[in-house]
Amino acid sequence: MPHKLNILVESTRKEILSQASEILSTLPKLAFSLSNGPQLKQTASNGGKSPDIILLDEGTEGGDIVARLHQLKEEFAQASIFVISPDISPKNIVRLMKAGASEFISNPVKADNLIDAIEEFRIRRVNAGKVAEGKICTFISSKGGLGSSVVAVNSAAAVARQQNQSVALCDMCLETGDLSVMLDTMPELTIVDLCRNFHRLDVSLFRGAITRHKSALDFLAAPHNPSDIRDIKVEHVQQILVLARKLYDYTFLDCPAMHLNDTTLASLNLSNHIFVITDLSVPAIRNASRLCTHLEKLGIANSRIEVVINRYIKRSTLSIEEVEKSLKRTIYWAFPNDFAEIVSSINRGLPLVQKNSSAMFSRNIFDFVKKMQKPDIYRDYRGIKGVFGKAI
Ligand SMILES: Nc1ncnc2c1ncn2[C@@H]1O[C@H](COP(=O)(O)OP(=O)(O)OP(=O)(O)O)[C@@H](O)[C@H]1O
Ligand SMILES: [Mg+2]
Repeated sequence: MPHKLNILVESTRKEILSQASEILSTLPKLAFSLSNGPQLKQTASNGGKSPDIILLDEGTEGGDIVARLHQLKEEFAQASIFVISPDISPKNIVRLMKAGASEFISNPVKADNLIDAIEEFRIRRVNAGKVAEGKICTFISSKGGLGSSVVAVNSAAAVARQQNQSVALCDMCLETGDLSVMLDTMPELTIVDLCRNFHRLDVSLFRGAITRHKSALDFLAAPHNPSDIRDIKVEHVQQILVLARKLYDYTFLDCPAMHLNDTTLASLNLSNHIFVITDLSVPAIRNASRLCTHLEKLGIANSRIEVVINRYIKRSTLSIEEVEKSLKRTIYWAFPNDFAEIVSSINRGLPLVQKNSSAMFSRNIFDFVKKMQKPDIYRDYRGIKGVFGKAI
């Protein structure tokens, strides 16, 4: 997973230090420290941790940038050095690269340039096998309207509330996606813009198409116009998700109910966890059973598929045990029925876990994501407690 990066910024110029700290503080999974000019043992100022990236200002007073690059390379052999310089001539760039700089950032520093360079660095670390990729978790209802969008949005927002977890949420309901309504945001760009510019898909293009939501997750919206899905091909979806899992600890997908078209299948194939959502009604359970069987026939490992019940009500006519018998599977989780709170959160355009973190559904979602992240913690617990508070 994209581990936390340590960044050291070295400059004698106050404006560079404050500009860099303003930009860096917007990024998740990153710690930085500022150094007012060359000092030995920079690590001490960074909590004792060696920097992964050093942001070195060429304009540092009285400094010989080439000599300083050599010093830093010697002291922090593992670090990549990004040099900030106002001189964007090829001659200067070549000189800095030869001296050991791995990135060149023009001054004045543009936030997008610096962030893209940092995110590219994260991807290089994943590609080099130094850091593991993130996980893709997908929700698909066994019938329309069972709650995959509600559960996907709230699970993503619940993980995004945790410290040091980076989260993306992609609306893979390409024709009917309504996550932008649930998040009360109407992004200008959507997944279709990534697909139409697929030949140049990189961090910068990806970042341009996502929207940072106030619940701290990065959102990729479904096309505004359903006819746009013509331009979305399987290979586009694959590459977008491969990139997302290099950038985020968790990428959550909301897939259309029972629409196993090629792009949905591409999403499911890349998913680490597929949560098939049902409720306690016979048609939904029958569809869940058919969907699980179909996914297995398509070669998706059974270990990646889990059935979850939404809108669970105790003393329903069907019990969980009866559902398990009929599906020949254990139920992984049950999300409670919390209609009034959920509808009010949808109408406000805020995930319920953010709007009211102590609501019954929110508390249940916090436990659900814990189980998903650390299966050993809640091996036997599936979101329901009996009258004496014992897991059932
Ligand atoms: N746990 C719950 N308790 C009560 N009501 C719920 C719950 N989850 C979802 N709902 C209700 O069900 C409705 C449908 O939920 P949602 O839009 O998430 O379903 P969906 O499976 O994504 O549907 P679609 O097939 O249209 O995409 C919501 O508007 C909400 O009113
Ligand atoms: Mg939906």
